[in-house]
Amino acid sequence: MTSPNDSSPRTYPDGSDAFPHHNLLDIAGLQPWEIEYLLDEAEQWVDLNRQSSKHDDRLAGLTVINAFFENSTRTLLSFEIAGKRLGADVVNMHAAQSSIKKGETLIDTAVTLNAMRADAIVIRHGSSGAVQLIADKVDCPVLNAGDGSHEHPTQALLDGLTIRRRKGNISGQTVTICGDILHSRVARSNIICLRTLGAIVRVVGPPSLLPAAIKELDVEVYTDFDAALKGCDVAMMLRLQNERMQGQFIPSPTEYHHLYGLTEERLEKAGGDILVMHPGPMNRGVEIVSSIADDPERSTITEQVEMGVAMRMACLDILTRRSRNVEGWT
Ligand code: NCD
Repeated sequence: MTSPNDSSPRTYPDGSDAFPHHNLLDIAGLQPWEIEYLLDEAEQWVDLNRQSSKHDDRLAGLTVINAFFENSTRTLLSFEIAGKRLGADVVNMHAAQSSIKKGETLIDTAVTLNAMRADAIVIRHGSSGAVQLIADKVDCPVLNAGDGSHEHPTQALLDGLTIRRRKGNISGQTVTICGDILHSRVARSNIICLRTLGAIVRVVGPPSLLPAAIKELDVEVYTDFDAALKGCDVAMMLRLQNERMQGQFIPSPTEYHHLYGLTEERLEKAGGDILVMHPGPMNRGVEIVSSIADDPERSTITEQVEMGVAMRMACLDILTRRSRNVEGWT
């Protein structure tokens, strides 16, 4: 496959030359070369974002609506910055101040957003499948910024970009994902993305926080964190998603930290050169200790945030090419 920087147009195995997806709703629907292409395209935006002038006007005149029905810091801000750096008019809709609070249905909200002739809509919603529901009702591309415990595709892409830049490639890396796998859309999207690109994925957490059907995602399942860490290349730490828990899943945060917290002793015992990741927001002293989280050599936490802006610029650019009449891959 050619690199996007080559002057020759990029073609799919089926002979087409355009990114064949209207929306970005999940990683599960993407082919490995489509994921690689998204990562390749993000590289140019990493470079631009490191310059003092960070503007490219390719989305000038377009309107991007960020409709967030759930709280967010990183994802909302980075989609907003991404759209603005590409020259789009970006508006944020906060559910707390919207007509949702007045009883409007999700479909009526979607129809309303559509009537405003947005050119891309970015949606975060607390229910799995809600983003698909809206995508079915609007004409423009829809990007999933996280739907319930289903998927968070741009998070997996930015995590993939971070791993690829730090480790050189994704294929062949062993990635241990630790924590609340049951409720985490980040875990799900990352598992699918990493497996699609040829990484070995281990998941580890208390049995109560591992989905019953997790083996179907072709991962190695552990409940012993030390065993799961041994020999891995990357440790991806996840927050306990308390807001999605009904009932008691763990005895206490202290007990959880004792068994599944990433500490200096644990990392040392595991040996090797383990790269530590976390999508944020993190609960210091629960799933990770500060000395690891704040060490830029071992931890990529702020780098992941940086990659998030570049990755979202790539996604907005690629998905609006049809409406901008830009042909092909580049
Ligand atoms: C994650 C999310 O919202 O799913 N955060 C993020 O997007 N950076 C993870 C989380 O909330 O724990």
